[in-house]
Amino acid sequence: MTINSNFNSNLKNTELKKYFVNLNSKIDFKRGFGSDNHAPIHPDILSAINLVNQGHFPSYGNDPWTEHAKLIFKNLFGNHTESSFVFNGTAANVLSLKTSVQSYHAVLCSDISHLYWDECGAPEFIAGCKLLTVKTIDGKIDPNYLEESWLRRGDQHYSQIQMISITQPTEVGTVYSIDELKTIIDWAKSKNILVHMDGARIANAAFTLNTSLKSFTTDLDVDLLSFGGSKNGFLLGESVIFLNPTLFKNFQYIRKQGLQLPSKSRFIAAQFLAYFHNDLYLSIAQHSCLLAKKLEELLMINNLTDYYQIQYSVQSNAVFLKIPKDLVKNIRQEFFFYVWNEKDFTCRLMMNWDTQESDLLSFIEILKRQIKI
Ligand SMILES: Cc1ncc(COP(=O)(O)O)c(C=O)c1O
Repeated sequence: MTINSNFNSNLKNTELKKYFVNLNSKIDFKRGFGSDNHAPIHPDILSAINLVNQGHFPSYGNDPWTEHAKLIFKNLFGNHTESSFVFNGTAANVLSLKTSVQSYHAVLCSDISHLYWDECGAPEFIAGCKLLTVKTIDGKIDPNYLEESWLRRGDQHYSQIQMISITQPTEVGTVYSIDELKTIIDWAKSKNILVHMDGARIANAAFTLNTSLKSFTTDLDVDLLSFGGSKNGFLLGESVIFLNPTLFKNFQYIRKQGLQLPSKSRFIAAQFLAYFHNDLYLSIAQHSCLLAKKLEELLMINNLTDYYQIQYSVQSNAVFLKIPKDLVKNIRQEFFFYVWNEKDFTCRLMMNWDTQESDLLSFIEILKRQIKI
């Protein structure tokens, strides 16, 4: 048998290109504020994937780019810290919990947290613990309710709190100040429980606080951090950062058993390398946060806030707008977004690296048209 080794990738590429040109011509490429997951991959990040797409290298994290990315995380968060890639934000959160909880433990989280509402019970199913919620103000855990949640310590009938999870920025786009974080973390440490931070959009918090990532994580004694990539211009990929390295001990097994060990780790590493190169992470954060501020400003200067009310202070890349129920459908048809609260029709408008000022202007015109001003 003769083996045909004349693999002509160029010919295949032109055929593939033609196929996509044809397919894409039938797709309606609408813009919107649906999610920072809806945006394409940032070109520098996509190009980094291409730049490591050569040669054969060991998989499962044993490649030079993964090693390099791990060093960068150490530079950012402290030499004593460890890091480990996973595929998505839910996994970063749930496996962070899994490092430290037993089935009789509980994790405190905010009453609007992604962990509690949007992970399909994965924390309970995979980490195997109970979640207990704490009341929030402006999306942030209200420290006045922490002590109230500290119930029945040592009581064999009650789940024992082992950790608190804080989302920074919050699910409604607000950002905890360093003092606000300190109050919650000091309380947690006084109770001898661990602190996890859900940082799916953590770069935005660093931009808004105008400070280093380390200053509101390592320096405040956070133990575990879910460091987000997907919502910040990546194809996919997040990193669990072990600011408390003792928790890293068995993570390689927890990650594999949790189905989150990326075989082709170098392609996740390449994205992080591009993200940190020349502080791209801060440029992306700055762009998306400033556009959210700009949208807020445009709503105000166009006198639209009597009709469309801004629900939370705009501190990162999100604007939460209460839109009259009967207008939501029409507006959404022209410019997509998600309804966040189906009771009062608060809608979530997300900016990202590729949002343009022209998107904001088009959206403002749509809003005006709906109320005929
Ligand atoms: C605050 C927060 N944490 C975690 C996640 C989970 O990310 P993923 O969808 O990648 O699992 C999300 C996703 O929307 C999020 O908004």
